[in-house]
Amino acid sequence: MEKLKHVISARQFDDPEFLLGLFESANRMERDDVFRALTGPLRGRILATLFFEPSTRTRFSFEAAMQKLGGGVLTAENARTNSSATKGESISDTVRVVSAYANVIAIRHYEEGAAEAASKISPVPIINAGDGSGEHPTQALADIYTIKKELGWLNGLRIALVGDLLYGRTIHSLLPMLSLYSGLTIDLISPSQLRLPLRYREYLTEKGIPFYEGEKLEGVIEQADVAYITRVQSERFASREEYDAVKDVYVIDAEMANRMKPEAIIMHALPRVNEISPDVDSNARAAYFRQAKNGLYIRMALLKYLLT
Ligand code: NCD
Repeated sequence: MEKLKHVISARQFDDPEFLLGLFESANRMERDDVFRALTGPLRGRILATLFFEPSTRTRFSFEAAMQKLGGGVLTAENARTNSSATKGESISDTVRVVSAYANVIAIRHYEEGAAEAASKISPVPIINAGDGSGEHPTQALADIYTIKKELGWLNGLRIALVGDLLYGRTIHSLLPMLSLYSGLTIDLISPSQLRLPLRYREYLTEKGIPFYEGEKLEGVIEQADVAYITRVQSERFASREEYDAVKDVYVIDAEMANRMKPEAIIMHALPRVNEISPDVDSNARAAYFRQAKNGLYIRMALLKYLLT
């Protein structure tokens, strides 16, 4: 695989060997997890996080990752109102200017394609930290890393993707990365209004990955090795009524979790609203908080890769 400059789409990660190397690097990051601001390999480098949409995990984990590697951070939380964007500055101008101060920029934006547009004019690496309902490639890295860590392998798994498959950008990035592994079966479980867009279904067909679509979780979750639950993306709906019609269709509770295979895992990129009830948290299958932690180490590995 050619050395990446920008990270815009999960489809750029088309080499399982490369992923393995990145996962080994993330493992080392976790093993040596000390605050290494003095000795870190990214000493003197600066990450700018430009977030035009809310975030907790993604922004904090990027910033923690950079600091643990010895680098510094410039942050525009709530950039939609707190940056010059409110004065009408275009994203391209903002990126052009910020790239003079930072060595790498992580962008979260409400418009699909924003990170890609930024990468066209940025002299420094751009990382897509979520572009509307487009993609969220670093979440997919964290997700694949988590599955590998929890289950030891990816080949041959049965994976249920549940909830908002229409607007959920984590799903849109996870699918192409999953397609690198063999023998997978994918269950796509959503209300009909939130069905996976055609282009992603076509992609699965093209890659020869068998998938099933349905609305019912019962009968599917019992077979799954991984149940990947998503939040219904309230911010993408045209009206409150449309959101209300689908908001709580799937709720995983302790009883349902216990019906899963003993070694199966439950994942969620978080934040959860009602999709997973808190009584599941103590179940050994609940991997979502471990998944959030893995996001830190994989982002450390990625930043080191991009900047050294
Ligand atoms: C996800 C996102 O922003 O797309 N969150 C995250 O990055 N951990 C999922 C979501 O908001 O539902």
